[in-house]
Order: sequence, then structure tokens, then C-alpha cells
Amino acid sequence: MNYSRPYYRYSLPILNQTLIAATEAANQFQFKMHYAIKANNHTRIVQKIKEYGLGVDCVSAEEIEFALLQGWSPTEIVFAGSGKTYFEIQYALEQNVGVIHCESMQEWEIIQEIRANTASKTQIALRINPDLKVETHAKISTGEKHHKFGMGFHEALEIIAIDRSIIGFHFHIGSQILDMQYFESLSLTVRNLLDTLPNNFNLKYLNLGGGLGIDYEQPERNPIPDFEGWMMALRSHLPTSLIPIIHIEPGRSIVGQCGTLVGTVQYLKHLDSQPLAILDVGMNALMRPALYGARHQVTAQSDQLIRVNYTVSGPSCESSDTFGDNFLLPVLKRGDQLIIHSTGAYGASMSLNYNLRRPLESQFIEEEIKTSFKKTENFAEVA
Ligand SMILES: Cc1ncc(COP(=O)(O)O)c(C=O)c1O
Repeated sequence: MNYSRPYYRYSLPILNQTLIAATEAANQFQFKMHYAIKANNHTRIVQKIKEYGLGVDCVSAEEIEFALLQGWSPTEIVFAGSGKTYFEIQYALEQNVGVIHCESMQEWEIIQEIRANTASKTQIALRINPDLKVETHAKISTGEKHHKFGMGFHEALEIIAIDRSIIGFHFHIGSQILDMQYFESLSLTVRNLLDTLPNNFNLKYLNLGGGLGIDYEQPERNPIPDFEGWMMALRSHLPTSLIPIIHIEPGRSIVGQCGTLVGTVQYLKHLDSQPLAILDVGMNALMRPALYGARHQVTAQSDQLIRVNYTVSGPSCESSDTFGDNFLLPVLKRGDQLIIHSTGAYGASMSLNYNLRRPLESQFIEEEIKTSFKKTENFAEVA
């Protein structure tokens, strides 16, 4: 029996290839990327991302503190979130982060109150809820009117009428979006909104969020997301002649495919429907299946020709701790290792210590690839 502990395995070559594709597209279409650090905050991964010249998108004071410790300059940090506390806003302003994405009139009032007592260089942009419906999982869609994120454009117009220091706008319509038509719709919606701005408003900053999806069904065939298609769609109604630089915040698309979760079969049971394999790892390390019903590929290394459909579950004391049914696998025995794919994003960073299970160790596939990589030009001064 194999008694090794489960672990996350990250491939630096895949991360590198992804970053090359992303930075090449960003250079071509003139985007400045801020990595959404909520997706994965492992030091080795964020250091690699930083090497490629991305800024960082933070959603808590702790993420800002971590980004500063990792060596990002404050001007390269953008700070978002629908429930920023007074303390978090104060901290961000004191640290002089580049831009705060303000999500409501009340939040703007708090920012004003704190700004009055702080000589901060931080600039303020307004997060708009564009009321756009997107075909993705309901729990990761964020841009419709009934969602908690952002403010209506009318509210933003009220704020810019009284606060001349507002530099621009932020949007984020959701995550795991594979159909580029939604990004085209966002581009058109933003264009229409910009066309209605008062003439005296000087637009200095536009951020269109993250959201590019990855191929969870065939990760090995499609390890690199379609950055070029994404950026082309976002640019479709916003040419560089209109807005030279657009800021974006990819998370999942940068790190999703470089990570796999490796677990070991502990027990096998024969249920009525199909056999069940219970692993030593589950929702404690990867919440997405239990939280959203997300599906990750599960494979085993084996030369066996016979394949059987299995249900694969984790060890936590919840029936929802399952990776799902119908995983076509070789005939399993105790001690076999299973690989859960595409777990680089929203895996380790969302892990729980439920049942007091410890965080997993991470292993890295180191082999570096030679590239003629060109670093993203430093559009660093965020606005
Ligand atoms: C405001 C904002 N920006 C960026 C992201 C990153 O999105 P993704 O990981 O889909 O690229 C998120 C994720 O939810 C977000 O809420």
C-alpha cells in the first residue's frame, strides 16, 4: 500500500508557456494584466508571474500585504471587492496602491472620509455592474443586475459629477467564460456607456476584469487558454485608437492548467450504481466540485486495457465531498494514485482546514523551457 500524502503538483513549463501566450497577446492588443492573486497565491507561482511583468489584483488587505511582500510596487496593485472594510480601505490608501475599484456610493463616501485625512496617491475607479447575462456557472457569474457586485451606471454618473478625481471604470462579468461573444458584448456595452459620458470627463483608466475560461474537459489537449481570442473580443468595440491601454485581471486562465492534485485510493466500495473510490483528499483541498458541482478530469496511470466507470469521492464528513460519477478508470485497488487535473486555480487558495486536515504540500516540475520571451512593456503607472 502506498501511504504517501496527497499533494499539489505544479508544472513550471506549463505556467511559463501560459505566461508567454498571455504576455504576447497583451503586447499585441495593448493590455496591462493584473494577476488575480485569489486564484493561487503560492510564492513560487506568484514570483514567476511577477517575472513576466504582470501587476496584481487584490481583494483583501491580506492579499495587498502579501503582494507587497512579494515585491510588487504599490502602483502595480489594484484593489477590488464588494465588501471592503473601513480598515482595508484605510490600509490600501496608506500603502498608496495604484487603484481602488469602488463598488457603491456608500463605499465612495467611506473612501472620501478616509482620503480627507490621508495624503494618499491611490486613484479611484468605479466598478460598474453592466447587467450582462453570461453562460457560465451561476455561482461564478457576476455581471447581472441582481448580483452583489458593482454599481449601476446612473450611480457612477452621480459620483463623477461630484468627484473630479475619478479616473475611470472597472467591469468583471464572471469566470470560466469560454464563449467569446460574451466578451464582445462587454466590449459593446462599455463602448455604449463611454459614449454617454459627459464631455468634461477625462477617461484615464478602463479595467475589464478577468473571466477567460480553461478547458476542464481536455486539459492535456488544450493546456493554453485562448488569450488572443479573449483580448481580440474585448478590443472588438474598443480599438486602441479610442483607448490605448486596457487593464485586465486574469486569474484562472494563468494558473488553472499548471496544477494537478495527486491523491491515493484508500478504499473501494460497490454501490448500487457504480463502484466508488474514496481518496485521501477531497473538498478540504479542492472545494470546487462540492461548492459548484465543478467537474475536473480524473485519471490514473496504468497500462490496463479494461476501463470501468467510478464515482470518486474525498474523505471529508460531507456527502457533497465528491468529484463526481462516471470517471472511466482502470480497475482500481487500494494505494493507486489518481490525478485530478486543472486544479491550479481556486484549488489550494480555497482550501479548508475542515476536519482539521492540514494544507497540502506542493511539488514543482522544474524543467524550464528556452524562450525568446519579451517582457510585457511596463505600462506600470496604473493610470
Ligand atoms: C473582480 C475580479 N477580477 C478578476 C477575477 C479573476 O477571474 P478569473 O479567475 O475568472 O480570470 C475575479 C474572480 O472572480 C474577480 O472577481
